[in-house]
Amino acid sequence: MKTQLENIYNSALLEIDKASSINDIDEIRGKYLSRKGEFNEIKKGLKNLPDEDKRTIGALANEITQKLETSLKSKYEEFYKKELNEKLEKERLDVTLTGKYTPTGHIHPLTSTTNEIVAIFQSLGFSVVPDEHSPEVETEYYNFDMLNVPKDHPARDMQDTFYTKNAPNIILRSQTSGAQIHAMEGKNPPIRVIAPGRVYRNENINARKNNFFHQIEGLYVDKDITFGDLKGVLNEFIRIYFGASRPTRFRSSFFPFTEPSAEVDVQCIMCEGKGCKTCSGTGWLEVLGCGMVDPNVLRGVGIDPDVYSGFAFGMGVERLAMLKYAIDDIRLFFNNDVRFLEQF
Ligand code: DAH
Repeated sequence: MKTQLENIYNSALLEIDKASSINDIDEIRGKYLSRKGEFNEIKKGLKNLPDEDKRTIGALANEITQKLETSLKSKYEEFYKKELNEKLEKERLDVTLTGKYTPTGHIHPLTSTTNEIVAIFQSLGFSVVPDEHSPEVETEYYNFDMLNVPKDHPARDMQDTFYTKNAPNIILRSQTSGAQIHAMEGKNPPIRVIAPGRVYRNENINARKNNFFHQIEGLYVDKDITFGDLKGVLNEFIRIYFGASRPTRFRSSFFPFTEPSAEVDVQCIMCEGKGCKTCSGTGWLEVLGCGMVDPNVLRGVGIDPDVYSGFAFGMGVERLAMLKYAIDDIRLFFNNDVRFLEQF
């Protein structure tokens, strides 16, 4: 039995020696060491031996099984390392390669400019009107009549305002000023609101004009509101938005819904006031219209102009963005060219 054990051991060693893969090792282990393996068969026969032999042969069988186990294990590890190295060599990973580019979207510069302006006015105590007080599809009533714009005013002309076929008085709003009326109707002062939104005009498109653009309307009605308050708020806004060093000027102007009225110009950033194509040679770009709310407008919404006064303004978002980021053509905002948009 002893020789039988040694023979099995030797042939197992020979096989291990000839093995060339992990698979071979697994097979050899199965053949010799599994429950149905050759050693187990012999161990089963041990019970028929005399006690003395049982002990010596049993001990020898255990010793041989362990040695075999050790040889299998070291061979296995050798193959494992070899196969792993081959695999690593084949599937080499170049960690210096750049990753795949996954473009991510971000906020459009007009939206971020609007958000920035809104935040400034909120910090000055203004709140944003609800959407239903600032509709893009408006009636002439809110867009013109209630704003003291005469029936024969040229702004109502087909050349400026987009009329719809739905009804003769339904238009695409030409200004956000109608939001003033919605904000005042049925309410008592103090009223301190802003209304950002899109407006439409039938313009010839060029570097400074598009047939739709964005405005932010502002309105403050209370007792004792003066032109000084208006100037104070707008100067503060400009100081925060542009920084203190940007030259600005108030220029007197006319709007049917304010009296007196003014416009604010900001020095052209493209030419620093020298005059260029963007500012049509003037060195300035108009960014907003403003004034003291006309008593007729207050009366129209049931606010007594002898008790209350107010100021209003409407600013162009595209103009303000162009002047901050040195964008020389308004059309860039609407072409959706990612080379432009990516810069913000
Ligand atoms: N709505 C005017 C425009 O689009 C701008 C404007 C001027 C708004 C004076 C105002 C204002 O609120 O008081 O040209």
